[in-house]
Amino acid sequence: MAQVISGKDLFERLKGEYKNEIARLQKEHNIVPGLAVVLVGDNPASLSYVRLKEKACAEIGIHSRDLRFEKDFTEDALLKLIDELNHDKNIHGILVQLPLPDHIDEAKVLYAIDPLKDVDGFHPVNAGRLLLGEPAYYPATPLGIQQLLIQNNIKVEGKHVVIVGRSNIVGKPLAMLLVQKQNGANATVTICHTRTRDLGAVTRTADILVAAVGRPHTVTADMVKEGAVVIDVGVNRVEDATKKRGYRLIGDVDFAEVEPKVSAITPVPGGVGPMTIAMLLHNVIKAAKDHAGRQ
Ligand SMILES: NC(=O)c1ccc[n+]([C@@H]2O[C@H](COP(=O)([O-])OP(=O)(O)OC[C@H]3O[C@@H](n4cnc5c(N)ncnc54)[C@H](OP(=O)(O)O)[C@@H]3O)[C@@H](O)[C@H]2O)c1
Repeated sequence: MAQVISGKDLFERLKGEYKNEIARLQKEHNIVPGLAVVLVGDNPASLSYVRLKEKACAEIGIHSRDLRFEKDFTEDALLKLIDELNHDKNIHGILVQLPLPDHIDEAKVLYAIDPLKDVDGFHPVNAGRLLLGEPAYYPATPLGIQQLLIQNNIKVEGKHVVIVGRSNIVGKPLAMLLVQKQNGANATVTICHTRTRDLGAVTRTADILVAAVGRPHTVTADMVKEGAVVIDVGVNRVEDATKKRGYRLIGDVDFAEVEPKVSAITPVPGGVGPMTIAMLLHNVIKAAKDHAGRQ
């Protein structure tokens, strides 16, 4: 039977550490870490992510400022708000929940965030520093995956990591993180996407296979090497009349058929998802600490 790697349990453990760090920041620097959470529109998935993030902040003592706007909020108004938040000394991190409505240029908004408050790690300055292997704010999901591996004693060094998906928020930054000449990294990394020829032939060579695709059952048992480690990033809503809300969440991996074949696997939900929130909190605390260091 495979080890089922729980991000939920690790997150519970990390919360204790985060609370201590926040207490220290308050005692030594009189700083309460502050996160601005900006949501435009009423995308149901975005609403639920924002609620989860704000709940986690409240639980550990991060002050979160909830900024919600109708879907017709203008790009100019949003840029003005970002500018205000960049100058607000009580706000150490700014999070703009994606996706934004079509009339708003996402890149323009993300690039307007002060890189020192960019706790999502999407600003080109932070992306560039990640590429160079320099300290920065790294995107939460890749960071969470790396922590899940480290904390579960799954060595990455020298392993072949195959990542299916090349998005700027998961696939590409994860590859950059795991290929660095650093502890918890030093992997040989391959990135796959829709133009990859014979996906299964590539994924079968993975010691660690990461699925970040956004399509249920993309990874089936025949695509996985015996004894591999499988990290399922996907979050897909599928109809389920037995659930009160009418749907359930499943990953990109066919868990039932893949689990018996592998040595370790993350579940959905309860795997990578909670670690994404954990690493967002980590980044906000880091931003507050960095702010204290500059005072
Ligand atoms: N658990 C979490 O905390 C968390 C965080 C972020 C995202 N997610 C989930 O992770 C999934 C991926 O998110 P994302 O933002 O990275 O998605 P995305 O921007 O849509 O990227 C998906 C990637 O998968 C590739 N792909 C799609 N179908 C494929 C196929 N049949 N074979 C090979 N590659 C394929 C695409 O290739 P092309 O580039 O060629 O189109 C693209 O690179 C989603 O389900 C999302 O909800 C979860």
